Parts: sequence; structure tokens; C-alpha cells
Amino acid sequence: MEDRFGHRISYLRVSITDRCNERCTYCMPQELQEWLPRHDILTFEETIRLIRIASDLGVTKIRLTGGEPLTRRDVIKLFRQLPGLTNLRDIGLSTNGTLLTREVEPGPPDGRTRPAASLTMAQAVRACGFNSVNISLDTLDREEYARVTGRDLLPDAIAGIDAAIAAGFPQIKINCVLIRGRNQENLNQLIDFAAERSLLLRFIELMPVSTTEVLSETNFLPVAEARRAIEAKFGALIPQPEFKTNGPASYYQIPGRNQRIGFIGAMTNLHFCESCNKLRLTCDGKLRPCLGSYLEFDIMKPLRDGASDDELRQFFLDVVERKPEQHDFRTTYQPGRKMVAIGG
Ligand SMILES: C[S@@+](CC[C@H](N)C(=O)[O-])C[C@H]1O[C@@H](n2cnc3c(N)ncnc32)[C@H](O)[C@@H]1O
Ligand code: SF4
Repeated sequence: MEDRFGHRISYLRVSITDRCNERCTYCMPQELQEWLPRHDILTFEETIRLIRIASDLGVTKIRLTGGEPLTRRDVIKLFRQLPGLTNLRDIGLSTNGTLLTREVEPGPPDGRTRPAASLTMAQAVRACGFNSVNISLDTLDREEYARVTGRDLLPDAIAGIDAAIAAGFPQIKINCVLIRGRNQENLNQLIDFAAERSLLLRFIELMPVSTTEVLSETNFLPVAEARRAIEAKFGALIPQPEFKTNGPASYYQIPGRNQRIGFIGAMTNLHFCESCNKLRLTCDGKLRPCLGSYLEFDIMKPLRDGASDDELRQFFLDVVERKPEQHDFRTTYQPGRKMVAIGG
């Protein structure tokens, strides 16, 4: 699939729930806590059908997200169906990490291996063929973590990161949203934490996804400023333009260390959208061609009205045709939906 501006679409981010066990200030409007009714959420069967159709159209990478995807009941039953889909080569999960240590019943025996007594959620996800997991961690200060996420779950998030390491994912990334006055003093601590565990750490600029108030002069911290603060401690970062992870991050090496860190300058990098390869499917069955645009198209209706695979394929192609050249966050974007419902 290719849009009018030459973006080749090979990546689908799939939000499977709007629910979350945390309440990050920048993601969920604090006053709004009503979840979508169950009937308005795509069933596992519907989700798999849409992913299969996207994969028929050349999507090779998917990332399951939310809300917090691991809060969805029986989520492993959904995950187990993914590796069978034709073109998928890269299956990832975005999570806040707090539920990765949860115990999960092992799946039915596959005839080759004896099922273990029980698995951690991280092991169960890995056993479903996921090769990457992105875990959100904005600070290592427990009180600050509780203020940002609305929940005192830092120990659980760290235990979850360690469970992901123990489960043997080939790629684990830590994502930190930059917030002035919250975590800019502690970025170096996160860098050391990632180094100790050989994890890839990325710093992400705040975007006005859910509410415009999340982004103000007081709390917006541009990646360039974060980089300067990091360089004050570690010395000039060494650009790594050749290093790519199928996303919009720019990577740098820390001098004297075998460690890379990434910066995602969604707001300040004017070339941010040039290499965009993504579509998004929301948990209530809307296809969104761009996170930072009001455009979204209801694929749940034709799906539930009995559309054929051909018709649904055409729906995807029409949405790709409408993909904008770049996001509207810097200009006309008006938040219409919680990030938690779109899937970050
Ligand atoms: C919406 S969350 C969903 C997955 C999971 N619950 C998590 O926290 O990783 C996906 C990512 O979006 C990021 N995010 C949420 N709201 C954001 C905002 N307003 N600006 C930038 N990133 C945001 C989160 O920090 C997280 O890394
Ligand atoms: S960023 Fe993730 S953990 Fe935080 S409220 Fe949003 S969905 Fe939940």
C-alpha cells in the first residue's frame, strides 16, 4: 500500500482496549473514566480478520497497544492467533509493563513441548511469537512515577521490565515521555538503568493527543533541550543515522559506552512524517491514517454488516489514499479522542 505522498504502509498499530490500570496525565483526561461498552470493541475474531486483511495488503509489522493491552481479558488467546497470519514478520507489544509478571495459564500442548506449570505474562507473550516489547517508563522516582501515572506502580513496572528480559525478547525498548518539571532532572538515571539492562531507551516529546492542556510552555520539553541536558553529563552524543528501528526515532551513541539512545521529536522535527509507514486501528474499529489528524474511518460498520474480504481490502486502500502528508499537531489539530482509545 502506498499513499499519495509516497509513504509505503507496512506497519499497523492495533489498539485492543481503551482500558488501562494507570492514568497518565498526558494520555487520559483525568475526569473521563468511562470505558467503551464491550459491544463497541472489536472482538478477537474481528481484530484477527482485519489484521489478516492488512497483512494480505503488505503489512509486515504490527504492534498491539491500547490503553493497556494486557488488561484485556484472555488477551493471550488473541495473541496466539497472530503468528499464523501470512506476511507478518514483526509482532510487537506496547505496555506499561506493570502486568508482565502476572501468572498466565499455559496454552494447550503443541505436541512438541510439555507445557510448563504456568508462565509469566511476559513468557506467554514471547511464546506467541512476539519479538519486540516497548515498555513505558518516564521516571525512576517512585513518587514522580505515581504523580505522572496516577498509580504507585513503579516497582511493578520495573519487575515487568525484568520479566521481559527473562522471557528473552530480542528487542526491548523503554519509552520515556519528556515532561518539563517532572522528569527532566532524572533522564541520566534512566540512561544508566537502560545501560545496566542493555535496553534501548527513547525519549519522546509530548503530543497534544488527548487534551491540548497537556502541552504547555510549562511542561513541554523539546528533544533538543533534553539532549543538551544529557550531553552536559555524558559529553557530545554521537549521531547514528544508519541505525533504524522501523520508526521515527533518531539514534545517538553515548560517548565511551556501547549504548544507544533515541529521540522522537514528534513536535519539533519538521521531517518527522516523511518516513511514516503506519496506519492505526482503534479498539472500536476505526482506521486512522495518522495519529495527529482528526481523520478516522469506521471499518467496524462494514465488517459487522457482512462486507467481503475484497470490500474490506478496498476500505484499507481508500483510507491509505486519504493519509495526510503530515500530522496537524503543530497547526489545526483538536483532540477529539483520548490517546488511550487511539492506541499510541
Ligand atoms: C497510549 S500508550 C499504550 C500502551 C501502554 N499502555 C503504554 O503505556 O505503553 C503508548 C505510548 O504512548 C505514549 N503517550 C501517551 N500519551 C502521549 C502523549 N500525549 N504524548 C506523547 N506520548 C504519549 C505513552 O507514553 C506510551 O509510551
Ligand atoms: S500511557 Fe499507557 S499506561 Fe499511561 S494511561 Fe495511557 S495507556 Fe495507560
